[in-house]
Amino acid sequence: MQTRLFIGNEWREATSGATLEVVNPATEELLATVHAAGEADVDAAVTAARACFESDPWRAFSGRKRGALLHRAAQLLHERGDELAEMETRQNGKPLFESKIDVASTVETLTYYAGWADKLAGDVLPVDGPDFVFTQREPIGVVGAIVPWNFPLNLASWKVAPALAVGCTVVLKPAPETPLTALALAEIMLEAGFPPGAINVIPGDGPTTGAALVRHPGVDKIAFTGSTPVGRQVMRDAAGTLKRVTLELGGKSPNIVFADADLKAAVRGAQTGIFYGKGEVCAAGSRLLVERSVHDHVVEELVARAAKLAPGDPFDKDTRIGALASRRQFDKVMSYVEAGKREAKLVTGGTATKVNGKGYFVEATVFDDAEPGMKIVEEEIFGPVLAVLTFDDVDEAVQLANRTIYGLAAGVWTKDIKKAFTVARAVRAGTVWVNSYNLYDSAAPFGGFKGSGFGRDLGREALDGYTDVKTVWVGLR
Ligand code: NAI
Ligand code: MG
Repeated sequence: MQTRLFIGNEWREATSGATLEVVNPATEELLATVHAAGEADVDAAVTAARACFESDPWRAFSGRKRGALLHRAAQLLHERGDELAEMETRQNGKPLFESKIDVASTVETLTYYAGWADKLAGDVLPVDGPDFVFTQREPIGVVGAIVPWNFPLNLASWKVAPALAVGCTVVLKPAPETPLTALALAEIMLEAGFPPGAINVIPGDGPTTGAALVRHPGVDKIAFTGSTPVGRQVMRDAAGTLKRVTLELGGKSPNIVFADADLKAAVRGAQTGIFYGKGEVCAAGSRLLVERSVHDHVVEELVARAAKLAPGDPFDKDTRIGALASRRQFDKVMSYVEAGKREAKLVTGGTATKVNGKGYFVEATVFDDAEPGMKIVEEEIFGPVLAVLTFDDVDEAVQLANRTIYGLAAGVWTKDIKKAFTVARAVRAGTVWVNSYNLYDSAAPFGGFKGSGFGRDLGREALDGYTDVKTVWVGLR
């Protein structure tokens, strides 16, 4: 297990000697003491990334060669899949089966962008006149990637893979709670054969390490996933050097169940929408909007299912709810549970628990009779806590769905195709799942409307975030 900074293909100790402690949230045990990058280390990492980006060897790397390295990294990651999944579960607290999905999806993302590396082409433009005008896409330069602790490895790949594919170089700052799989990714990139400085990994906290990366004049673009308040701060800090910024922020996503839906499927979708990943999922379906005539039935069925989801040892194959990622997140979630008990009607869960006497576990929790204006309806909780609201018709459903500062995702459950398309079109969200929830694919762009940020991870669209367009005029007059 690596615990040092990865800069210029070398493992280095933090200049200041600063460290951070990585704790297993299910056992409260210390997992590792990891070096924490200070300003001097951030500068060293950016310098290494810059030198690589501007070096003749990296410039000479064809897209096909970069693609081959990404393919090799995907293969190596796949070979270490079990080990990485266990590492992810130990540092994040999520059930092992979820970590295995994360690893498989990371392999897929690396493979997907390996495929794009030699397929980025420009256009020849039909200008008025004899001149020959074409565009080409060029890598933006040095990318600072800042990722959170909920999908540590997977979200790192969402940024690292497209950035490297197009020829950018990267400084990745993982969350202080979960740096271990990002360091393992560095190990894999090294073994795959990326040259020094192409990818650097510098664990550290937000205010010190993250902010230094955002402000650094040698960084051309920040790709950020995290909370909306920090997203605002990142934008402010990036303004000084006019960096490009893409922000994938929080959400309060509506999951809308119409009376004519396949209710069994809808209840299952409501369950995974909020309880998968312990609800520490940016796209979590944290507001369940149910049509009045089926409300009682849907809530009853959901409560019956949720009551069976006892938090358990993340390494137990039957566990569906693991430990929240940190003490801090646990405290935050429990404060919302207390607010919910004052504001709405608790119908299941609502209690903190321990497994084998330890850990930051919270029961699958459902609040009924929730209304706009309540804290549990307005604010991102980022835990296994659902607010159920009721509506009477399509218009009201859409109004409630859009009554939020966020716009990351939404679900709509109905057998009526017209209703499904009408709502999918009317909801202001970056992703709408029809008769499904929480589906992802490397080919499908993901990101926010409104307060959920801008720019897209995944898909062809993500490549736009790591390239600038150059227009070349060849005068023929
Ligand atoms: P956060 O937004 O502080 O952390 C995300 C990343 O940003 C981490 O790597 C962190 O070190 C870094 N960071 C923090 N402050 C920074 C700064 N000033 N400059 C640059 N980088 C900075 O999220 P946090 O505090 O861990 O969680 C708080 C809440 O944020 C959660 O309860 C949840 O509601 C939300 N959140 C949303 C996520 C999403 O995927 N949309 C992911 C993580 C948290
Ligand atoms: Mg924070």
